[in-house]
Amino acid sequence: MSTHYLCPAADITVGNHRVFRIGRHSFGVFKVEGSYYALRNYCPHQGGPLCEDAGVFDRIDAEVADNHKVREFISVEKNLIACPWHGIEFDVRTGECLVRSDWKVKTYKVQPDSENNLQIELPD
Ligand code: FES
Repeated sequence: MSTHYLCPAADITVGNHRVFRIGRHSFGVFKVEGSYYALRNYCPHQGGPLCEDAGVFDRIDAEVADNHKVREFISVEKNLIACPWHGIEFDVRTGECLVRSDWKVKTYKVQPDSENNLQIELPD
């Protein structure tokens, strides 16, 4: 593992991610609820550039109330992206696919250092 500087943490805001390339690694960096997440830029469906031109969006959740009515509401977490090739959705915090539990995208540890610059740990 080796640690790499990315950018000032202020450059990554909620809903506005960036894609980085370091050596053989390509990944998107996202901010969700005050924390930073890095997701491999490779879709397990057909190898699309998962984090390129991908919109980060709110999740629409639903719950069934006691009276059997369905209530939908919008999450404000902005933790999902949709692959630009076929639209399959992934959680940027975990790499989990919303429609296929056997598809998971690699995630990397990313966090701000003492000077509030983002650092990422990548395999050598
Ligand atoms: S390649 Fe990503 S959804 Fe198909």
